[in-house]
Amino acid sequence: MQHISSTLGVPDTSYVPRHVAIIMDGNGRWATQRHLPRIAGHTRGLEAVRAVVEASAARGVQYLTLFAFSSENWRRPVEEVSFLMRLFMSALRREVVKMHANNIRLKVVGDLSRFSARIQQLIRDAEARTAGNTGLTVTIAANYGGRWDLLQAMRKMLARSPMLDVDKIEEGELTPHLAMAYAPEPDLFIRTGGEQRISNFLLWQLAYSELYFTDVFWPDFDAAELDKAFASYRQRERRFGRTSAQVVAPSGLSGTA
Ligand code: FPP
Repeated sequence: MQHISSTLGVPDTSYVPRHVAIIMDGNGRWATQRHLPRIAGHTRGLEAVRAVVEASAARGVQYLTLFAFSSENWRRPVEEVSFLMRLFMSALRREVVKMHANNIRLKVVGDLSRFSARIQQLIRDAEARTAGNTGLTVTIAANYGGRWDLLQAMRKMLARSPMLDVDKIEEGELTPHLAMAYAPEPDLFIRTGGEQRISNFLLWQLAYSELYFTDVFWPDFDAAELDKAFASYRQRERRFGRTSAQVVAPSGLSGTA
């Protein structure tokens, strides 16, 4: 089997992206525009998560990865952080039941050591409960950072093979240790809220992803907005380093440049 977290092969470019990764931005501005407290934006943001999970499953997406809380988000006002933690906890309790009923597998990636013991236990329970599900895999990136991920992967790689010859290290030695080694690289990256940045999300895996930015604030992002992103994705020509002519007639060529 081709190694799923590397760019050594050229994946199929199917109609529906196999893996969609989203930075859900704009909750605060959505609320401020309506003269509501920022936390109201997060509550509505959770409704958008439900809608997008449902729409992704219905359209045949296999992996949906959501950036819920970055390593930098701890810098927010203490009340907002604690509200997000409570929201996260209640989502883990309530939404997981529905996800499980819909054959959805839930995974959480990031440095979870900074979360309370209660949240860590809820995460472990939710993952264990849904581990055998074969439908959509929803990954929540929580206290996640792409640089953290690369560093923890390098540490694990070196701890497992301390005698590794540095001149001979290849992608395939590192990628099994990335937090999302179970998933193919995202075909489509979406960021809502108008900013056009990757913001320390999946740095390794976004190397060849199609990038889609929209001004829509996350609480307003729904199935119709997801379809717009998919329509844009379908128009892209994914070359993975090849020429346009090769993409039209691939003739067994693989490999990236
Ligand atoms: C970004 O908007 C959003 C967040 C940092 C939190 C994301 C949380 C949710 C969507 C709800 C809960 C989700 C789960 C999976 C439990 P922002 O606050 O940075 O918006 P702004 O840029 O307008 O200030």
